[in-house]
Amino acid sequence: MSSFDFNRQTTRKGTYSVQYEGTEKLFGTGGLEPFWIADMDIETPEAVAEAMKKRIDNGIFGYTKWQNPKFHGAVKGWWHQRFGITLEDEEIHYAPSVMFTIGEVVRQFSEEGDGIILTMPSYNAFIGMLKGNGREIVDCPLIRNQGTYEFDFDHFEKLCRREDVKAYIHCSPHNPTGKVWTRDELAKIRDICLRTGVFLISDEIHMDFTRPKEQFVSMVELMEAGDPILVTTGLGKTFNLASIPHSYFITRNRHLRLKIGRNIASKYGMGAANSLALEAIHAAYTECGPWVDELNRHIEQNMQLVEAYIAAHMSEWLDFKKPDATYLAWISFEKSGLEDEEVHKALIDIGGIAVSPGHIYDVKNNQHFRFNVASSRHRIEDGLERIHRTFKKITKSTVQ
Ligand SMILES: Cc1ncc(COP(=O)(O)O)c(C=O)c1O
Repeated sequence: MSSFDFNRQTTRKGTYSVQYEGTEKLFGTGGLEPFWIADMDIETPEAVAEAMKKRIDNGIFGYTKWQNPKFHGAVKGWWHQRFGITLEDEEIHYAPSVMFTIGEVVRQFSEEGDGIILTMPSYNAFIGMLKGNGREIVDCPLIRNQGTYEFDFDHFEKLCRREDVKAYIHCSPHNPTGKVWTRDELAKIRDICLRTGVFLISDEIHMDFTRPKEQFVSMVELMEAGDPILVTTGLGKTFNLASIPHSYFITRNRHLRLKIGRNIASKYGMGAANSLALEAIHAAYTECGPWVDELNRHIEQNMQLVEAYIAAHMSEWLDFKKPDATYLAWISFEKSGLEDEEVHKALIDIGGIAVSPGHIYDVKNNQHFRFNVASSRHRIEDGLERIHRTFKKITKSTVQ
């Protein structure tokens, strides 16, 4: 039996939650039951909240150093305990957010108009960030293989050889497909990037969410001194701390670490750390391993529920295979024969539900949606019923 209650009813009332109150922009309307943006309807562990409260009791929130043994010790402990990786203090660097770090690497190691590789489907903020920075998105589509996704190494190498291609943003585990990359796949990616002089950025923010039989392998394991490789991550997903901005990156390239560090401090004036985030990181990484294990069991059960519900009630329209990792269910409606736009409009109008449309994760049409299962079982059942109601109604009206 679980000692943490992940089915507890939670509320975000009065918190200006993007999940609940930010649907107008993407969905054109408010009041939808939301399962879209990647945060959880699950409270952060008590130890994390308590650590932040204790820090608040001090009452002074002046500039704060992240270069301290508490921060380094907590990060090193987590990586050693969870992934068997030994890190040195100087390999770890605090940064304002994962997307800030990726944007900064892109700005430093490429020029406007240069190409940056993404593997479609791709986390939508990568697409937005590259457009915002005037970089060309160089698409290396993942290969579909019976509900799973594979890396196209030959195509990737060809793209890496292009003169204008400067970096590749790897997502591990992969959002939105939930794929966990094997050591062998990572080694091949690293090898191609090193041989072709393409900077390798590995976004590992979903690293703590894996299904029971899966083992996450970090690119850190393959990094050697001086490699032009950077791994960026944080606790925003694992401990539901997206509104407590923070992240950290790991690199074994001293030049890179100093350069990015200098820019964060001098160019952007953001060298100090978030004092609440530092307390949260310490409590989470030193006290909350068992909480993460139980959370993963809860997510696995919710994924099983999605799988069983689709098999029982929606298999004529939808395909779903439990992902290796993440709390995001990537569901295909290709076999329904319905158009992208029609499905998404119906999910809003009939289902009253906000799920992330597949086309935001792609540079072309994409007949999937992403359904966030980091909620109580009750909410997931409700979400599935809403999806069922929607497909039943539109497939009927299409036939008539
Ligand atoms: C793959 C990936 N990277 C980065 C982020 C955002 O991280 P941050 O808020 O630290 O920029 C997300 C959030 O959904 C994500 O899924």
